[in-house]
Amino acid sequence: MHTAEITLDAQGRRLILRDQDRERCFAALWLRERAPDTDTLDAQTGQRLIEAAQLPLDLTIEDAKVDGETLSLQFSDTHCTTFPLASLLEASAASRSDTPDDLILWDASLDTLPEANFAAALESDARLLDMLDALRRYGFVRVRGVPAEEDGMQALIDRIGPLRRTNWGGIADVKSVSQAYDLTMTQRGLEPHTDNPYRDPIPGYIWLHCLTNAAEGGDSTLVDGFMAARRLREASPKDYECLTQLATEFLYTDDTTHLESEGPLIELDSLGKLRRVRFSNRTERVPAHDPEVLERYYAARQHFYELITSDELTVQLKLDPGEMLIMDNYRLFHGRTAFQLEGGIRHMRQGYVDRDSTASRRRVLQTRMEAVQ
Ligand SMILES: [Fe+2]
Repeated sequence: MHTAEITLDAQGRRLILRDQDRERCFAALWLRERAPDTDTLDAQTGQRLIEAAQLPLDLTIEDAKVDGETLSLQFSDTHCTTFPLASLLEASAASRSDTPDDLILWDASLDTLPEANFAAALESDARLLDMLDALRRYGFVRVRGVPAEEDGMQALIDRIGPLRRTNWGGIADVKSVSQAYDLTMTQRGLEPHTDNPYRDPIPGYIWLHCLTNAAEGGDSTLVDGFMAARRLREASPKDYECLTQLATEFLYTDDTTHLESEGPLIELDSLGKLRRVRFSNRTERVPAHDPEVLERYYAARQHFYELITSDELTVQLKLDPGEMLIMDNYRLFHGRTAFQLEGGIRHMRQGYVDRDSTASRRRVLQTRMEAVQ
């Protein structure tokens, strides 16, 4: 039960809602265009029927009343509507954190890694939701019990959304070959990076499935890019600002492909919260900016690099055959230690799944689970 109080400002242009210790302010026009009734929104799709951009800019609220859990409003264009109070309290919960409040930022001290079981996530919506929740909160999840066959992860991808095909195909090999077209296909260690920042859109989630691993080395390294960005901001606001402001470029070319895209190493959303990180030493091509700008950028990039390669931020794990990692490519830096093959083979399979379909699946499952509780 909400004990909300409301007041209107003198002109009726704003409604102030007080609920316990919180106070929220809503514009009359916002309340009018979001009015949850069938004159304003289509009953079937929830999509808007009125033309919001044509509402009078001087629209006011003429009357407002709270009755139990419901807010009734009458507007100056004669429209009347009712809002569930709970929906308004949720709509305006802005936080001052640099990330959404339910994300768990981590460093090397993370001792329990988020895990899921392949068969359970395949068979149970509740377990699939647990897996997607862990993926959202931590930025990665280790999945055990994946069939040790080439496209073994496909069945679980099918539960979430379409596989993102690229010029390398669908689920592709990551293994050491003599004619490597990318450094991932050598035995080198790989510095922490995000995948394919030269694509648009950049792949959202990386699904990395282990069929066989090297006896020595070949460990996966993971760094929480949001934690690294936060540490950079705390250590040097100037370097942080530089990496959020200056867009750099990324390039991939081969005989049949030419991909390029640009963006900052630390990208913020319109509220100044962390949206995504990029880092790809192999493919970055910094534009020839003014030397003074570049000097600032290089110093900031070096500072960020020191953070993302530090032991303090790095979690290291080794995938065994039949395991996979799902990683948020907008948040995590991943890499691997060098490995030596002596007769054996290190064979991983990798695919990409988009962010929108993954988030959609999680939200739909969440709504369904809440409905049955
Ligand atoms: Fe990668």
